[in-house]
Amino acid sequence: MQSNSVVSLIQSHRSIRQFTDDQLSKEQIEQIIESGRWAPTSHHVQAYSIIVVQDEKKKRKLATLCGNQAYVETCPVFFVICADFYRLKQASEIHQQAFEAGEQEQVLVGAVDAALVAQNMLLAARSFELGGVMIGGIRNDQEAVAQLLNLPSHTFPVMGLCVGYPDQNPEQKPRLPQQAVVFAEEYNKEDLVEQINEYDDVMKKYYYERTNGKRLDTWSKQMATFFSTPKRPQVGEFLTKQGFTKG
Ligand SMILES: Cc1cc2nc3c(=O)[nH]c(=O)nc-3n(C[C@H](O)[C@H](O)[C@H](O)COP(=O)(O)O)c2cc1C
Repeated sequence: MQSNSVVSLIQSHRSIRQFTDDQLSKEQIEQIIESGRWAPTSHHVQAYSIIVVQDEKKKRKLATLCGNQAYVETCPVFFVICADFYRLKQASEIHQQAFEAGEQEQVLVGAVDAALVAQNMLLAARSFELGGVMIGGIRNDQEAVAQLLNLPSHTFPVMGLCVGYPDQNPEQKPRLPQQAVVFAEEYNKEDLVEQINEYDDVMKKYYYERTNGKRLDTWSKQMATFFSTPKRPQVGEFLTKQGFTKG
């Protein structure tokens, strides 16, 4: 198959959660941010902001808020990528026009913009031999994160991103087979159960080998457990408070 350095970088992805004490240079941080800024955005709204956190105390507090995820503190730089319609509200005020950004569509727009920015940033970081992991735990307590980072109305944290020099060399985590996620011309449910079973075998082997036989999990069991309870019900309430009020 045809390849090049970009494709190889993308396809060699692994999340990194252990970092050396080495710091990033100012230029590396600048390039990572700049790469985020060049992500495409819906309707050119650029509905995101990046908060760069290097202060040790703040990282510690955020690590706790993210559900005691130690790497949020131990990574040299933690980025918080937010959906941000605050400056769009300002634009409306400048032109004395109604500001209609409360609908769920805008929550999607902001989340997608933020995600594209974050992935560009992670890839840029990896191009410098850095590693990182995205942190959805930033949505565990968005209210407290908003207070800590002084986030205004019409913004919400979407994800965090830990970046640093890798101090681990994990294997790549196997993905669902291509047939289970890519369809020609129309959706195909036919072989799904079979594909899930096949993937379960792959993941069982992966976990078994990675944990010296301690973990005997399968992907479907993991997902079934994950989706057996509601996730972050407080998110809806926080979004309403931030101005995303309409269904
Ligand atoms: C939006 C998003 C949020 C995530 N949140 C967390 C998180 O809070 N903590 C964590 O350890 N990993 C988090 N991850 C990493 C995933 O667990 C990881 O990408 C997945 O298990 C696949 O592993 P890989 O990235 O090593 O291929 C997140 C990934 C994404 C894309």
